[in-house]
Amino acid sequence: MSLKDSITKNNIPHHIAIIMDGNGRWAKQRGTQRIFGHRNGVKAVREAIEASAELGVKYLTLYAFSTENWNRPKIEVDALMSLLINTIKTETETLIKNNIALKTIGDTQSLPKAVQKKLHEVVEHSSKCTGLTVILALSYSSRWEITNAAKRLVQDFSDKKFAVEDINEDRFSSYLTTDGIPDPELMIRTSGEYRISNFMMWQLAYTELYFTATLWPDFDKEELYKAIVDYQKRERRYGKISEQL
Ligand code: FPP
Repeated sequence: MSLKDSITKNNIPHHIAIIMDGNGRWAKQRGTQRIFGHRNGVKAVREAIEASAELGVKYLTLYAFSTENWNRPKIEVDALMSLLINTIKTETETLIKNNIALKTIGDTQSLPKAVQKKLHEVVEHSSKCTGLTVILALSYSSRWEITNAAKRLVQDFSDKKFAVEDINEDRFSSYLTTDGIPDPELMIRTSGEYRISNFMMWQLAYTELYFTATLWPDFDKEELYKAIVDYQKRERRYGKISEQL
């Protein structure tokens, strides 16, 4: 039986989030420039999207660029932005043909104007697609997101839109950039690092975490199946005991 066949169809995570890590090390192992790793990372992005769409996953969030990544050498940041814009340009038609919507989370206003413009076009263009939604986390970090949510919440409170007693988890969540998107059931991080790295810290509260040593450019459909099979073996208790489930 193949790995894909061992996936239980009625227990597929609705939302999978991925920290795509290890592009630089993958390139270094081959004696090439870091950007070569990022370019090969796009192939892995395609694999993850295709496999998710085939399995009926509803949301796939990809951590493509963190707030902290702005501190990388300018040459790498510029190359990543070009890669992003070129990939979006070449893949838009395929996304829409496959009923895949694109969304972004993060401080997208800090991205170069050309990237913002292209992203906006594709998000609009794909907004009627009802299959998988791919969410690109761009210039994203949880601390930025939570601070930003708190600022906007306090502003609305000062404008008397609600009372202190009306502040609860649901209201707070509605100020996050993931408003309307269910929390991920599964978070995958590649490259053997065991950290959350400022990624969806609010949303991952009850998420199952899966870590693999595979470097992102080597991630393929089989790797995603492996993560889902592992997820399906877990008992999700949300603070209860087994007998209560
Ligand atoms: C982490 O590897 C990867 C990134 C910071 C960028 C991810 C970008 C892509 C996969 C390509 C473009 C994406 C899309 C959605 C088109 P790293 O550079 O931190 O690797 P290292 O830890 O080995 O140095």
